[in-house]
Amino acid sequence: MASTQGAAEKARVLVASNRGPVSYTVDENGSLHAKRGGGGLVSGLSAIGSGADSLWVCSALGDGDRAAVRRAGDGPLPDEDTGGQRVRMLDIDASVHSDAYNGIANSVLWFVHHMLYQTPLEPVFDAEFRRQWASYEAYNRAFAEALAEAAAEAATVLVQDYHLCLVPGMLRGLRPDLRIGHFSHTPWAPPDYFELLPGDIREQLMAGMLGADRVAFLTWRWATAFQRCAEGLDDERYLVAWPSGSARHVEHLSEGRRRTYIGVHSLGADADFLRARAHQPDVEERMAALREEIGEGRRTVVRVDRTELSKNIVRGLLAYRQLLEEHPQWRERVVHLAFAYPSRQDLAVYRDYTAAVQRVAEEINSTYGTPGWTPVVLHVKDDFARSLAAYRLADVALVNPIRDGMNLVAKEVPVVSDQGCALVLSREAGAYEELGANAFVVNPYDVLETARALHEALSLPPEERADRTKRLAAAATALPPAQWFLDQLRALEELQSS
Ligand code: G6P
Repeated sequence: MASTQGAAEKARVLVASNRGPVSYTVDENGSLHAKRGGGGLVSGLSAIGSGADSLWVCSALGDGDRAAVRRAGDGPLPDEDTGGQRVRMLDIDASVHSDAYNGIANSVLWFVHHMLYQTPLEPVFDAEFRRQWASYEAYNRAFAEALAEAAAEAATVLVQDYHLCLVPGMLRGLRPDLRIGHFSHTPWAPPDYFELLPGDIREQLMAGMLGADRVAFLTWRWATAFQRCAEGLDDERYLVAWPSGSARHVEHLSEGRRRTYIGVHSLGADADFLRARAHQPDVEERMAALREEIGEGRRTVVRVDRTELSKNIVRGLLAYRQLLEEHPQWRERVVHLAFAYPSRQDLAVYRDYTAAVQRVAEEINSTYGTPGWTPVVLHVKDDFARSLAAYRLADVALVNPIRDGMNLVAKEVPVVSDQGCALVLSREAGAYEELGANAFVVNPYDVLETARALHEALSLPPEERADRTKRLAAAATALPPAQWFLDQLRALEELQSS
């Protein structure tokens, strides 16, 4: 459908992501209700101010979103829904979106970068995969075309995440005048694992990403993995360079030696927002309710996650069970608050995982529970105020992902906890680079080691816990979201236009 935007409304800074800053639901009377989300991009775009002619391009994700797009006549969404942010939502065909989002992004690319496959049986790259891949291409093309149409001359475009890996290359083809950045919020797979993908798909993904002037990651570990995958392509078009200093890049020999720079921006917690929000009355109410569930004088081990395969919730529960088995002195004296919020429930493997989490929690409660003590308090209904209440009550935070781009929970709990908390942290979380020195670091597959770490964390003397928490909170807030975004923008704008 043709855009209603005139030349005067072209944007100078554009962000593109699958999930936008607002989503819609339709109630039983057919009325639309907008719900705004938060996160680093929202803070960042707010920080550049409305004078910057910014536009956020995202996809409609459900029926409510699609109705909102139709109501907006395919133009920007109403300001009152978006908090003044200019947002254009793309109404991509629902089956194309589902193939791209569920089929490719979440079932293939997410699995590759988080190394989640059980390789004797999966992945299987068959005709069905190729059909879904065609949808991923179409979905990426829809974004590239919308961005090309909406961007002012020499505008800056920040493309987000594994959903949109092909966009930079496609957009460069349409609008070579633009400065294009891509940011990965996930890990990047090591070359041997990336090579599970068919060769032509790998090439397409890398050519898509390398269409950007700059690709950026949350840690140097993921940036380096990307660079090694570029080297592994064995493609004469690219020269991968590792100069000393930070300006690592890939040179495009067939495109006048154009360069794609590689950078790192480690997203931090938003301390001001979190501290203020965590002292609102609704959080205090949730704290009172949780204190009832925990019982008088007991310690807490807290985890808050989406029920996501990479978060390793089941092994976390097994480690807690081991703690109760090996150290009976903790029985009746500790409660594990495990908040596991539904995620990607369209995928059977996520539904099965959610069921496994519930089953193991119930097993622990039936084995060790007593009339006055429930060892695991599991909540599955997403409630941000209750998450903050748990953060404030945390004695120990358990963050044990198999692999994680950053993990903001590890950064948020030390900022919010009332009495200071000890952090048990997987070495495979991006946050490990900054927080590892003051955490109890674990191999996420080693349940016995994790149980030992829980015991040590629970036993930490209060002064040492307070000291560690201070250091964790300082490291966790080093790069707040608005600054994280502005740094990316500046790094991209400082590059010479090619
Ligand atoms: C996490 C990841 C992001 C990803 C997002 C998608 O937050 O860190 O990399 O974009 O999940 O979640 P969704 O619910 O939209 O599938």
